[in-house]
Amino acid sequence: MSEKPWAGRFTQPTDKFVEEFTASIDFDKRMYSYDIQGSIAHARMLARQGIIAAEEADTIVGGLEAILADIDAGNFEFSVSLEDIHMNIEARLIERIGAVGGKLHTARSRNDQVALDVRLYLRDELKEILGYLDKLQEALLAQAEGNLSVIMPGYTHLQTAQPVLFAHHMLAYYEMVKRDAGRMADVLKRLNVMPLGAGALAGTTFPIDREWVAEQLGFDGVTRNSLDSVSDRDFALEFCSASSILMMHLSRLSEELILWSSADFDFVELTDAFCTGSSIMPQKKNPDVPELVRGKTGRVYGNLISLLTLMKSLPLAYNKDMQEDKEPLFDTIDTVKGSLKIFADMIAEMKVRAENMRVAAARGFSTATDVADYVVRKGLPFRQAHEVVGKTVRYCIENKKDIPELSIDEFKQFSDLIADDIYDYVTLDASVNARRATGGTAREAVEREIKRARNERKK
Ligand code: ARG
Repeated sequence: MSEKPWAGRFTQPTDKFVEEFTASIDFDKRMYSYDIQGSIAHARMLARQGIIAAEEADTIVGGLEAILADIDAGNFEFSVSLEDIHMNIEARLIERIGAVGGKLHTARSRNDQVALDVRLYLRDELKEILGYLDKLQEALLAQAEGNLSVIMPGYTHLQTAQPVLFAHHMLAYYEMVKRDAGRMADVLKRLNVMPLGAGALAGTTFPIDREWVAEQLGFDGVTRNSLDSVSDRDFALEFCSASSILMMHLSRLSEELILWSSADFDFVELTDAFCTGSSIMPQKKNPDVPELVRGKTGRVYGNLISLLTLMKSLPLAYNKDMQEDKEPLFDTIDTVKGSLKIFADMIAEMKVRAENMRVAAARGFSTATDVADYVVRKGLPFRQAHEVVGKTVRYCIENKKDIPELSIDEFKQFSDLIADDIYDYVTLDASVNARRATGGTAREAVEREIKRARNERKK
């Protein structure tokens, strides 16, 4: 019992089970290097400000560096009775360098310490996540560039609607992932302020220099209110929100890949490395990776709700409830990183079945809107044009014909505005390439967007 830094006020040892129940070391140990990084900056600042002696700071920093090396090498025994990563490291420091180690916690509390550690940790993870988002954007862009002449059915209600370029479809995801990266970069901006110096809640009586510590640790500035500093977890919530939106996007792409790689669509082939077989049906190649990413979206949403519910109605300032912020946050980080990493590779290697897409695009009267637009250009109001083409499609269904297969006389039954040049408008290529305005699916419009994406990525 005597090893606990706070044992002074207590007369009885903590119940073993309570000790385990209240401990966070099993999960917060992953922040050890950030805890040490923060402590080193804090110790140096204490010496600069004359709060501890320079030699004392040197001894403390030396001890912390040795502990860092030990943990890195796997030579550190974490103790549940020392509750969390902060007390594990501090206790080890005192064991190593003696009583002077006890000076490290001057002008500091675990409340501002943990707020600092989580920010430092998430900041590095965010940078890694931004790297993976960039790789996924690159893979999507490369698929667009490599398949510029591939036409696929565009859907609404999962019913064939109008033909689009496969490249256009890939660029839709490029846009989504670009916004996801923007949201993550935004989280980073608001996260990057330094909370240390808030103490337990009210600030500290010591003449500390928070700005100096912030600079040492690469923060853009310091937090402005001590109560807020120790009780704010907005940055974790923002990250979990941005992650939920990102996973929602990945789940949509997953769903499409699952459909597209089925025998019924057969639009793409995911390379063997991303699929598994069935133990009973020898013909099967299952799209496990997109299925799992689709499934994992649920836990990321769940983590956001856990965190929101955890923070709801908490009075200021720190409450032990907040120790529960770590597992949902860490799980979100792990899930998002894993999903992005595997998706970037899977998209890069995905094989496209251009012919099957084209055949499917020709089915389902996908150029019907082009006939309607044609008669509108000849002067018919759009609502009447819709009616004309509706009847044309019904005729096609009854006579088992596709729109481009109709003779000119067959066309003319529905409107005498239709002339021989109709055939220039109802092919797949003509339909696609007619949609030239910015953001449309015409090859020239898509090429413009690819160029634009390439340019913005160079910056
Ligand atoms: N392990 C704690 C947490 O994660 C650290 C802060 C503890 N502070 C306290 N006053 N008990 O929230």
